[in-house]
This record gives sequence, structure tokens and C-alpha cells, in this order.
Amino acid sequence: MKRAISLADQYKYTAKPNPVVGCIIVKGETIISEGAHKEFGSNHAEVNAIEEAKKNQGITFNSFGELTLICSLEPCNHTGKTGPCSEAIISSGIRNVVVGAEDPNPLVSGSGIRNLINHGVKVQSGVCAKLVEEQNKFFFFKNKNNRPYITVKIASSRDGKSYLPNEERTYITCKESIDDVQKVRANYDAILTGGNTVVNDSPRMNARVSFPVNQPKKILLSNKSNFDLDADFFVNCEYEILNETNIDKIIERYRYKDITSILVEAGPKLVNAFLDSGKVDEIIIYQSPNNLGINGVNWFKEDNAVEKLSFKLESSYKIKADTKKIYIKC
Ligand SMILES: NC(=O)c1ccc[n+]([C@@H]2O[C@H](COP(=O)([O-])OP(=O)(O)OC[C@H]3O[C@@H](n4cnc5c(N)ncnc54)[C@H](OP(=O)(O)O)[C@@H]3O)[C@@H](O)[C@H]2O)c1
Repeated sequence: MKRAISLADQYKYTAKPNPVVGCIIVKGETIISEGAHKEFGSNHAEVNAIEEAKKNQGITFNSFGELTLICSLEPCNHTGKTGPCSEAIISSGIRNVVVGAEDPNPLVSGSGIRNLINHGVKVQSGVCAKLVEEQNKFFFFKNKNNRPYITVKIASSRDGKSYLPNEERTYITCKESIDDVQKVRANYDAILTGGNTVVNDSPRMNARVSFPVNQPKKILLSNKSNFDLDADFFVNCEYEILNETNIDKIIERYRYKDITSILVEAGPKLVNAFLDSGKVDEIIIYQSPNNLGINGVNWFKEDNAVEKLSFKLESSYKIKADTKKIYIKC
């Protein structure tokens, strides 16, 4: 199972917003084939492993009845972008299946396993389930909570400021921190910001990384209608502009959409609106050792605002002279 989990891990930036899934097919101690869900919309891991095994039939094994299929997530039982994996397993002739975690998606949630059992397949489930859940944190969160996981990311000066008004753009943190943000963005299905940030900073807000990634979609909250759509923010990406200020309604919008996680990268007004909604699950702060001074705009109205909102420091480490702190909602 751990091999199936690590196979899956390689595709975490290209399978999203789908979960990553890995699968191996064994005969006794020998691995016959492997498969993974590599890209959103492409074949599932089980189908890839079965297709791979077919190439070895008559060489390393004779009949599929001799084999055991080990997959990190419960095989699906519905037709989505691909056919049901439970049916592919049944028709392959495999009689033994080991499952990591049950799929929390209401379209599956146990029905894949039941279908296998009903067709005489022996199933063992729950092997390394915690590891699979951790590996697919956003996917499990969305299915359990009916909303995407929400992270707020901010860059703060030492004196707790967010930007200098009347300046074109305020760079607060060092280049290495900005590079780190690219990898953070690559994890998320969507990046959300507000109208003032797009007008004042003209940000790109994409994941500029050296590996293949399904770029996050962009969500812009604004009542403005005169954006320059040739600006970097809008180019070569999927975006939507929402004229909506109610945070609960905005989040509810993504309940049935293929978005399991949202990274909020905005200025203090919108960040505080999200924090006030109580729907933020994580805060990432990149803190610079430099002050912006009295002209800077405070991130928060009071000291220790993050702790007062029941966030607990999970990790804190240096990126050059900056400090990156991650807080999780208690
Ligand atoms: N240090 C950092 O990490 C960081 C990150 C991002 C931005 N910034 C700085 O922040 C400055 C802008 O800050 P900001 O807070 O005014 O801008 P913002 O990030 O654009 O957020 C505020 C805007 O979001 C929209 N909005 C929609 N619903 C809202 C709600 N419920 N509450 C509040 N706003 C809502 C409104 O856009 P409309 O007015 O268009 O309708 C509002 O003006 C920028 O100049 C930028 O330099 C700093």
C-alpha cells in the first residue's frame, strides 16, 4: 500500500482537483504492474494498472484470478469522466482487492467496495487509510465539510503592516519567500483576491514553478467592470469576476464545483472579511524583518489577532531573513 501511495504522490499537481490515487497489482510477492491517476480527467489508477498487467499475461502470470489489486483509494462506482473502476476490476477477473481509504465522495462512499463484494471479490479495506487521507487533505476536507479548504496567505512587515498606500506596489518579503509562494500556489485549486489588489499591484497570481501543474483558477471579487483584461492577472488562465461581498455565499458557490481548496491572497480588507466569516482553516504568514513604518496599513486591528481567532502555530521556520509561519484553526 505504501508503494501505491508513493506512486500517487508524483501526480499531486496534475491530478488535482481530483484525489491522487496509486495502484499496484501483485502475484504473491511479485509486482506485476503499477498505475496511477496522472492527470485530471484521465484514466484512473486501477484501469492503468489493469491495462499494464494485460501486457504481462502469459509471461509473469496466467490468469487474473491469481492476482491481488492494491489501490490507495476505494475504486469508483460511477461514470464520471471515465467509466467505473469497480466494473473494470470485476471484468478483469481479479478476485482479491486491498483498499487504502474509503472514498468520501457521496457518489462513491462505500458503493465501489460493495459492488466488488457483491460480485464475489474479496476486499480488505482501511490499510494505511490515515496516510491516504493526509495525502488527499483537500479532497477529504471538501467531501466531509461540503466546502473547499480555505487558506489565507499574507506577507507582513515586522511591524504588522500589509502595504504602503499611494505606492505602486509594496514588496515586503525576499525573493526566496516569493519563490516559496509559487509552490504554495501550485497546491491549490483556486486563488482568490479583491479588486483593489488587482488594480494597485497588477499581480500575476499564478504558480511559477518548474514542474507540470494544473494552474489554479483565479477568483476576483469586485464590483468594478473596467478591468484591463490584457493585464497579467487575466492572461492565459481561467478566471471569474464575482460581484458579491457575502463571504458565505461566495464559499457556498464552490460546494458543487471542482474546487477543493482556495488560497486567499488579498489585502487587509478582504483578508479580515474572510477571517470574520470563521471559514478560514489555515493562515500562512511570511514575515519580513523590516518595518514599513507608520504610513503602512495594519493587517489586523489588534495584537495577536491570529491567536485570538483560535489559530494555533503549527510550524515556523526561516526563509533567509524572513520567517514563514503556518497556523491551523483549532
Ligand atoms: N502584503 C500582502 O500580502 C498583500 C497581499 C495582497 C494585497 N496587498 C495590498 O493590499 C492592498 C489592497 O488592500 P484591500 O484590502 O483594500 O484590497 P483587496 O485585496 O482588493 O480586497 C478588498 C476588495 O475586495 C472586494 N471585496 C469583495 N467582497 C469583500 C468583502 N466582503 N470585504 C472586503 N472586500 C471585499 C472589494 O473589491 P471592489 O472594491 O473592487 O469591489 C474590496 O475593495 C493592495 O494595494 C496591495 O498592495 C498586500
